[in-house]
Amino acid sequence: MAQSSKSSEAVEVIFSAEMIAGRIDELAQDIARGHFDRLMVVAILKGSFVFAADLLRALYKAGIQPEVEFISLTSYRGTTVSSGQVNIVRDIESDVKDRNILLIDDILESGRTLAFAKDLLAARGAHKVATCVLLDKPVARAADIAADFRAFECPDTFVVGYGMDLDHKYRELPFVGRLRPDE
Ligand code: IMP
Ligand code: MG
Repeated sequence: MAQSSKSSEAVEVIFSAEMIAGRIDELAQDIARGHFDRLMVVAILKGSFVFAADLLRALYKAGIQPEVEFISLTSYRGTTVSSGQVNIVRDIESDVKDRNILLIDDILESGRTLAFAKDLLAARGAHKVATCVLLDKPVARAADIAADFRAFECPDTFVVGYGMDLDHKYRELPFVGRLRPDE
């Protein structure tokens, strides 16, 4: 078996585990101030699973005990930016009618993924759909959407770790970083 270097050595840290933990506690306090009655968290898989797990435990400390659902979405990108299309791989199981929802995703980039999920839940009768992302990339949005809660503004570069992958790798890193140029 070929010797492989530790994946963290290939990645330069942008947001450390400590920075992320601190911001998540602040986010949970912000969300608690929203006084969402009977909150249901919907985490968008796969990328948000680590963020969602940490945010949930921070919400508990902030006095919120939401129901938790998962939706698995993929966005297929064509050759042009405008051809991106979002598909449901696995849907949530609960009825969202009249519920307050907090949608969680890893990164807000073009906005298509979050806009698709928000429209879907609104069309199913959700009372309010708020959005929360770990990272917000300040790039041109293809969809008209802004996150209600976000942990960090992210440099316009491809990032991995803390749930996010490149070709199914690096999700296990406890921090967010970018690949070193020779990787
Ligand atoms: P959007 O639909 O263009 O907003 O894209 C959001 C999705 O693209 C995120 O949920 C991620 O799964 C993925 N994505 C966008 N940028 C990155 C990145 O830098 N690293 C890893 N995944 C990314
Ligand atoms: Mg994603």
